[in-house]
Amino acid sequence: MKRRSFIFDIFSVGFATAISSRLNANNLNSSPVIRSISTWNNTKEANLMAGRLLDKGKSSIDAVVEGVAVSENDPKNTTVGFGGAPDSSGKVTLDACVMNHLGDCGSVVAVENIVNVARLAKDVMEKTPHVMLAGKGAEEFALIEGYKKTDLLTEFSKKNWQKWSETKEYSPIINIDNHDTIGMLCIDQNNNISGACSSSGQAYKMPGRVGDSPIIGSGLFIDNKVGGAVATGLGEEIIKTVGSFLVVELMRQGFTPQEACESAVKRIVSNNSQKNRFQVAYIAMNKKGEVGSYSIEPGFTYMDYLNGKNKEIISKSEF
Ligand code: GLY
Repeated sequence: MKRRSFIFDIFSVGFATAISSRLNANNLNSSPVIRSISTWNNTKEANLMAGRLLDKGKSSIDAVVEGVAVSENDPKNTTVGFGGAPDSSGKVTLDACVMNHLGDCGSVVAVENIVNVARLAKDVMEKTPHVMLAGKGAEEFALIEGYKKTDLLTEFSKKNWQKWSETKEYSPIINIDNHDTIGMLCIDQNNNISGACSSSGQAYKMPGRVGDSPIIGSGLFIDNKVGGAVATGLGEEIIKTVGSFLVVELMRQGFTPQEACESAVKRIVSNNSQKNRFQVAYIAMNKKGEVGSYSIEPGFTYMDYLNGKNKEIISKSEF
């Protein structure tokens, strides 16, 4: 290559890159999409909190943690935090994880006596050299960090568990009447995506059972170059297909968030016989702030905060 044309090529590539970055920056500056989505319609207040924090300029990681805390504090939500359903022995154990736009993550597993476990997962991410803390170790870390020790079993959840204990019927069906997990994705004014997941897991689970919610890649995955996804439903099936990671990888290949959620759900459906029906749902968001959702069974809803409005969306489903 002649020296002159080589210099021209270098110059033109550099110029094109500069123009392209400028265009991207302009696009982002002209209309940063600020959006929050969260699984199920009982997360209305949680999603509103996250959306309002984003509008005030908070980062996506702070918004997801503070948003999810609203559900964790709510005793009427029997699948998350305080008032969550116990395991078969009557003990409430919580699972949670967070992931930020840098790809950093934190997770806590089978934690007792601590309400705001998504915040605790963020503390694991930011204040320890580890990604995951389990059981007593996670609880001790929380107490050192100043979290209050709280009995998570409410009278309402205790009564339901006592009723269940009369038959001990173990049903893996997870749907609107027995739904689980708050999963939340936020995109902030800097175009950064973060997510959080928090759950008491499957009601009346075997003691020690852990689902998808605290497993990075299964309950939650973020790649800030592409987007994020969170899962709800039967954790065992989500773990088998590393569901949230799959959704993000499909978006990386060019699928829309809607197409990616549909494809990941169909993967689970194709692995299971129709006799074996249960609920799994995903919600996803890409870098443009576009969102999608899909579930196996009907009845799945999610909350969507955009432009100051917090709407309930009924998801499409396979059946
Ligand atoms: N999706 C929550 C769980 O299976 O524990």
